[in-house]
Amino acid sequence: MSARIIDGKALSDSVRAEVAERVKALAAQGIQPGLAVVLVGEDPASQVYVRNKAAACEKAGLHSRVIRMGEDTTEAELLDVVRQLNEDSAIHGILVQLPLPGHMNTAKVIETIAAHKDVDGFHISNAGLLMTGKPLFRPCTPYGVMRMLESEGVPLRGAEAVIVGASNIVGKPMAMLLLAAGATVTLCNSKTRDLGAQTRRADVLVVATGRPGIVTGDMIKPGAVVIDVGINRLPDGRLVGDVDFESARQVAGAITPVPGGVGPMTIAMLLVNTIEAAERSAA
Ligand code: GUN
Repeated sequence: MSARIIDGKALSDSVRAEVAERVKALAAQGIQPGLAVVLVGEDPASQVYVRNKAAACEKAGLHSRVIRMGEDTTEAELLDVVRQLNEDSAIHGILVQLPLPGHMNTAKVIETIAAHKDVDGFHISNAGLLMTGKPLFRPCTPYGVMRMLESEGVPLRGAEAVIVGASNIVGKPMAMLLLAAGATVTLCNSKTRDLGAQTRRADVLVVATGRPGIVTGDMIKPGAVVIDVGINRLPDGRLVGDVDFESARQVAGAITPVPGGVGPMTIAMLLVNTIEAAERSAA
């Protein structure tokens, strides 16, 4: 068997088309949704992500403001910028690109973002709202994964969902969203014993560890839906996910490629969250 390839690029294009319609509706009320992206330091991967986020905003008719700050910025200076953005009525969403330089307290910076502008969904109030089943913002990557599963018609009620990787950005919020959709959720972490025994039970397997090849075909239940959140640059320059694609596609029923799978969805859902914030500000 060879798995169906889930085309994240095509799906993200249809999400962006929806976004364009909502941008028009807001324009009719005199509102242009605005996203501020704050980048501190020179991390090369972050530079690329921030550029892509700003370009996606421009293309969709959102206003974007990129604020670049040097590696030696103090935490107090960054907090000042965040507080100014909290007060700025042209800005509906604020995203501080992670990771921050080592001398910053990341949690404190995120808690300083106004929760109603926290389009990443990382603020502790938003994490709590998600956990209690009343999310204000769903973190973009797990939100994108849910849209993919929905558009693929993957049944989630009563399904066995296994997540590998328990980060605050992906694994934990992913678990909450799948649980809310009625799946039985197993959240694995780097200490999990016999990972294959867990992953082989999965009807839906989401892998988000940053470790290339951590899941291979023999760890997948035949016919399972495999969502690969990883993006890893190998020493030879190739971009690969966390799942060994060649062996996995022989076993899975459907699988996301890297690149062209989850990545484009993450950016599309950032636009959706920014639109939601702008729509709430108009209500
Ligand atoms: N760094 C890697 N992924 C993300 C993300 O989704 N949001 C932010 N703010 N930083 C990141």
